[in-house]
Amino acid sequence: MARYAHITGWGMAIPERILTNFDLEKMVETSNEWIVSRTGISERRIADDSESSASLAVQAALKALEVANVHPLDVDLIIVATSSPEHIFPATACIVQDQIGAKRAGAFDLLAACSGFIFALDQASSAIRSGSVNTVLVIGAETLSRFVDWADRNTCILFGDGAGAFVLQASEEPGGVLSAVMRSDGSGAELLTLAAGGSKLPASLTTVQNGQHYIRMNGREVFRFATRVMTQSTLEVIQKANLSLQDIQYIIPHQANQRIIETAAKNLNLPPEKIISNIQRYGNTSTASIPIATCEAIQEGKLKAGDRVVFVAFGGGLTWGAALVQWSGPLPAKKRVYPRRYRWFARLRSRLLRLWRRLEGLLWGKQAG
Ligand code: UT7
Repeated sequence: MARYAHITGWGMAIPERILTNFDLEKMVETSNEWIVSRTGISERRIADDSESSASLAVQAALKALEVANVHPLDVDLIIVATSSPEHIFPATACIVQDQIGAKRAGAFDLLAACSGFIFALDQASSAIRSGSVNTVLVIGAETLSRFVDWADRNTCILFGDGAGAFVLQASEEPGGVLSAVMRSDGSGAELLTLAAGGSKLPASLTTVQNGQHYIRMNGREVFRFATRVMTQSTLEVIQKANLSLQDIQYIIPHQANQRIIETAAKNLNLPPEKIISNIQRYGNTSTASIPIATCEAIQEGKLKAGDRVVFVAFGGGLTWGAALVQWSGPLPAKKRVYPRRYRWFARLRSRLLRLWRRLEGLLWGKQAG
């Protein structure tokens, strides 16, 4: 029997703090007029000290599970796509796994910069179709504000924080993720980087003094590459599913720059109402931009069961890709579950496990001695 991977739940989380273009005017030599006309961005959200990529990911994940009516104990796999993980390791996905109480789930992070959510969607749907898992949480979560050089006007005007999540579930009903493409070109690696803090350039006084822990970007080159690959991969993913552009109701592109989105729409000869954009309010939230835009499109009544939608993204690496989805909505369920209420139990479980590990260490340590 054929298996399909349906998107059955969605959720988003954004920090409350808003940073407007007028605020940025006071920080660097820029203007609201320049930012709006060159990027389409008016404001972005910035995480406060109590928030992080994991905390935003947890909030988005719980909302997505609630929409899908899936209990955390039924999640088999958690993939967090992020370029601003909690740590180099452990994976942010493991922190999410613990905090939502997804006891049975495997968890890992995926790094493909802003294309990460598409790559994660492809990996999740392939795992479901292969029969190895039934239920996957795919999350895009970022606090890029922590890696932005607030004195660099080329980058600080662009990025914002946030998270978005999808629940994918197996079903024999045709639909869900119909096709996907993932591409990369490492010869463009230096166009968008966060150079230090890894094994090549470990953190040192010199890397800090040289500003190598900040995002650096060749905006013009990334722009040129983006407009080319957004069109290319949209067409490729549609062709792969044996469909044509006329069969597609919506395109939900990575929200990096309104001019990139409009150029892609023009190249594809698509009217603006088919393209979802909310970049004005959130800026570029990297891996979170597609699920956040999807959540808002659903809230606005734009995406309905049966609609075909193309998600398309590009980013550092260089990476790019697209996924074509026949939208489904939650699967029919016998009883209601409450993932958010389960959180207190997840917290208790986590504390007990930590305590148990310490006790075990003491006991075992004594025996070994
Ligand atoms: O998720 C992927 C992440 N990256 C991207 O998507 C980035 C893609 N690239 C872009 O979005 C655009 O290239 C930018 C928004 C970054 C820049 O826009 P642009 O139209 O390509 O501007 P530019 O870099 O060609 O710069 C034009 C001028 C320059 O001045 P000069 O050399 O012509 O005198 C810049 O110094 O604008 C200047 N400029 C600014 N002026 C005011 C650059 N940034 C700013 C700024 N405010 N914030």
